[in-house]
Amino acid sequence: MQQRIKITDTTLRDAHQSLLATRMKTEDMLPILAKMDQVGYQSLEVWGGATFDTCMRFLNEDPWTRLDQIKSRLKKTPVQMLLRGQNLVGYRHYTDDVVEAFVKKAVAHGVDIFRIFDALNDPENVAKAIEAVKKEGAHVQAAISFTISPVHDLDYFVKLSKTLAGLGADSICIKDMAGLCAPYVCYQLVADIKKAVNLPVQLHTHYTSGLGSMMYLKGIEAGAAVIDTAASAMALSTSQPATEVMVAALADTPYDTGLDMNLLTEINDYFKEIRKKYGAVDVSPSQVDTQVLKYQIPGGMLSNFINQLKELQALDRLQEVLDEVPRVRQDLGYPPLVTPTSQMVGQQAVTNVLAGRYVMVSSEVKSYLKGMYGKTPGPVSAELQNRVLRGEKPISGRSVDTLSPMLPSLRQEAGELITSEEDLLLYAMFPAVARTFLENRQKATA
Ligand code: CO
Repeated sequence: MQQRIKITDTTLRDAHQSLLATRMKTEDMLPILAKMDQVGYQSLEVWGGATFDTCMRFLNEDPWTRLDQIKSRLKKTPVQMLLRGQNLVGYRHYTDDVVEAFVKKAVAHGVDIFRIFDALNDPENVAKAIEAVKKEGAHVQAAISFTISPVHDLDYFVKLSKTLAGLGADSICIKDMAGLCAPYVCYQLVADIKKAVNLPVQLHTHYTSGLGSMMYLKGIEAGAAVIDTAASAMALSTSQPATEVMVAALADTPYDTGLDMNLLTEINDYFKEIRKKYGAVDVSPSQVDTQVLKYQIPGGMLSNFINQLKELQALDRLQEVLDEVPRVRQDLGYPPLVTPTSQMVGQQAVTNVLAGRYVMVSSEVKSYLKGMYGKTPGPVSAELQNRVLRGEKPISGRSVDTLSPMLPSLRQEAGELITSEEDLLLYAMFPAVARTFLENRQKATA
């Protein structure tokens, strides 16, 4: 007998990150939390990902304060965050002392469940974060970044889930960031992972391609225990499948979620109004985008290409850029396309089309070929690697092991700007953005 399906609500993190450029303010989250707390969700994903950056950069908010305010209004629902392994919530690799300090503070401020992923699926990039979360006694959900390529077959993902289980994962997430996982592929993937590791499996997707709710249904039939959804006013398009739809689809079956539809409707009525408020930053497409299935790129990447090429007055080269993406990906050993590899591959594809193939190579691609981002899923082009590194040997193993601990020097650099360990971590993640934010705060309280 299958247990009830549980739901993680993503409205306050991934949904507004995907639909509203991560701009939702804390003041628009707080009034609805007491009601959301009554639903009986598995968890609320409310922190991490891009929210840390945008809080400071665009909203003049302290991400730690947001977390405190949310936590204090949730009496029974666990708080979940998204953590990019050794990158934490930033875009570079941090040394282990930063990882430990960050996780410790995140737990102290109320995070119960950490979803940890790496863009390359390199276990060495998530091992330290997993260890740190376990040490603090919180739940480790290790995520598999799902993608399609000649090196990413079922066997690859099953092996990876075994490795993650071995590192201490408490549950496994299939993270389908581009909405590419077809329903029957999901069925097989969940079934095989369930056979290989004795852990709950959670599903995460984006509705971009229109496959999302079918993928969930087949994954549930194969034994997935939890799905990620958002209130329908903040769902579909590039966001998650809609909560109410999944609840209705599973009602009166062995998978029944048991959630109260009236309560969900009240919550959704609230978010309908909130969504309207953010109309100016709402760039989500109104239709399903089947192009992403053909080019296997996340929805956000396509709109980035269009904007970028428009600015360069080269929109007529879009098709060439789309054709170049899979070639760059092959040259780089088929990285899944998710932050930061999606930006890296996308940028290089545009440069290759406009300036000639690898006539200019970005510093990110150079570091990548040097091994600074970790182990690539497949082998990189040896020709390209030799040319870019000019005989220099790529590093093997963890790039951060070659660095001395970052916190002491960051602390010194930040000086009087910071007054707490939390401030130091703001500065560590985004030095320039945090400087402006902390200076403004000092002025305001002076
Ligand atoms: Co997502």
